[in-house]
Amino acid sequence: MATSTDWITDPKGLGQWPTPEWLVERALDTIELPDEGTVLDPACGDGRWLQAVHRRNPRLRLWGWDIAPAAIAAARTRVPSATLEVRDALVLDDSRADLVVGNPPYVRPQNLAPEQRARAWTFSTATDKVDLYAPFVERMLQLSPRVAIVLADTWLSLSSYAAFREHVDPHLDLVARLPKKAFEATIGTVLLVIDPRARHRRGRLDAEGLVEEGLVRLVDGVFSMEDEVPILEGGSLLGEHLRLRMGVVCGSYREWLHKGPPTIGDVRTCRGREVRRFHIAESREWLRYRPREMLARRPYVAPKSRALFDVPDKVVLAGTSGRTLRCAVDTERRYPLDSCYVSEGAEDSWLLCGLLNSAPVNAWYGARFPAPRVKAVELHRLPWPARTAGIADAARAADQEGLDEAVRKAYGC
Ligand SMILES: C[S@@+](CC[C@H](N)C(=O)[O-])C[C@H]1O[C@@H](n2cnc3c(N)ncnc32)[C@H](O)[C@@H]1O
Repeated sequence: MATSTDWITDPKGLGQWPTPEWLVERALDTIELPDEGTVLDPACGDGRWLQAVHRRNPRLRLWGWDIAPAAIAAARTRVPSATLEVRDALVLDDSRADLVVGNPPYVRPQNLAPEQRARAWTFSTATDKVDLYAPFVERMLQLSPRVAIVLADTWLSLSSYAAFREHVDPHLDLVARLPKKAFEATIGTVLLVIDPRARHRRGRLDAEGLVEEGLVRLVDGVFSMEDEVPILEGGSLLGEHLRLRMGVVCGSYREWLHKGPPTIGDVRTCRGREVRRFHIAESREWLRYRPREMLARRPYVAPKSRALFDVPDKVVLAGTSGRTLRCAVDTERRYPLDSCYVSEGAEDSWLLCGLLNSAPVNAWYGARFPAPRVKAVELHRLPWPARTAGIADAARAADQEGLDEAVRKAYGC
């Protein structure tokens, strides 16, 4: 007799992360099952969604597909009444169902087999660095106008998923946050319900059930799960004034960092955790900056040019967010590591530092981009105020209150 996880043969390559059974039940509570017709789980794993649907309405026809034969074998044991097939759901045909349920596969594009990637990349939502789940959900929407699935939450705001957001927005009925530990992986997850009623409801779902909290809307191209999504008015965008670039990517810190004393060619460095608002804590680490040697290394390294680091002043921003931004002006020609962003451009560094540390910009950012890592492309879309009086001076004085006031005035809010 197979144990409950025997069918999981390749989590990384096939994105096999089964849905906890309590969550299947609570997710099904949020929708109305059809009285009759067909319910399909196109990535059914061991068939747990189909089994729960069957318990609720035994009259429904059940279809389950999965690319993995071991998954289909496990599903046969769980739901013998279902029609189950080993098949790749991304291969198009004219199958249609009254409802699609489940949890799509999560596979990063670089882990997809070439043939699989080529197939997935024919979908309109397969752009940039999206995970396989994006084209898979697009396929689910082709299979039925009603879909109820659990999903990673990265599509809500990450820039790679802009096409995906546009694709689901017209049909979005409910997005509900799931508890932090709903899955073994520590990623944010949501329940997504697609329905022609498209009520754009927002809420949270846990073992107690669904609590609705308001509406979810696309604001500036991203979905926010907040009550308020602050709008900042500016004449231009941050990305038109300067760029944020990642620090040195050197691979093994153990190999390239040391605690001194420095020898010729070593440079001052810092990590994201040392970047505080307005100043950088003293780091006792030095970087053996040897671009030629570093570039010869694999995997990926990115020493970048000295011209980015070796300047009288620049802004250094911590790259992990916790939904807040922390940055400082570096005047010691540091070569920050990849857990930081570095500014490049002619604008006053203290002005940028003040903007990014200010309360209005943090409210704008936190409501839109809850992901744990700051993305430069997202910050490049920050509206840049037409008037900037007082911002740089307040930042230079590390005067948070004065800064917030100056930035509010600058944006007229
Ligand atoms: C996240 S698991 C979800 C399994 C099940 N629906 C559940 O919720 O427990 C995703 C499933 O997709 C299957 N899968 C991966 N690529 C697939 C494809 N192209 N077509 C169909 N199934 C696929 C995997 O084998 C895995 O069982």
